Amino acid sequence: MSAEKLRAFLAVDLPSSVRTQVFQSIAPLRERLDRKVRWVPADNLHLTLKYLGDVEHERLPRLLELSTARLAGLPAFETVLGGLAAVPNARSTRVIWFDVGAGSRELARLARKLDAAASKIDVPRERRVFRAHLTVGRLREPAEVPLAGFVLREDAGRLSFWAREVVLYESRLSSTGSTYVPLAHLPLREVETLPNQLAPEI
Ligand code: 2AM
Repeated sequence: MSAEKLRAFLAVDLPSSVRTQVFQSIAPLRERLDRKVRWVPADNLHLTLKYLGDVEHERLPRLLELSTARLAGLPAFETVLGGLAAVPNARSTRVIWFDVGAGSRELARLARKLDAAASKIDVPRERRVFRAHLTVGRLREPAEVPLAGFVLREDAGRLSFWAREVVLYESRLSSTGSTYVPLAHLPLREVETLPNQLAPEI
């Protein structure tokens, strides 16, 4: 009898207000590219740290134990989204994502640690260099996506948030798309944060 498997991945979540902000910021792009792209619904936006693929259910407790040990003491950190990128290139784009500015090194560190933890339950190591990103759309067929000169909606502002935990997600596929179900939350160490803008004393 084969053990039951599920498709899973580890990710950093965005607060729902930021997911909405991100989704709305690319409204002009969605209009321009229309049906060429399968857009990630606002609810599904996340920063993937480690794709696990099909994993036996019974291996997850060990994965969580190993991941918790590897993440021990790592602090929460601020993540600031950078520019939009057409990947692998503008001429034959497969994916559209936001690069990450501040927080990208911390995300890479998390990804490295989780990759190591997952390898202990026989998930293949990631061979590509980790590049922190937030996927917003996938092309149905590779196509030209010239992003140069594209401006996000003016009111998008700075897209930033605090990464405070790693989430283990199950990805359920259906005819209407993917649903991501959170299975476990691995908190990072809380750090004291100052309010963004302190009111002047006088
Ligand atoms: P990405 O879009 O952030 O690059 C859940 O399916 C997430 O796992 C996706 O958002 C995707 O991350 C990543 N993913 C899906 N299939 C993958 C694969 N075959 N290899 C690596 N990452 C994958």
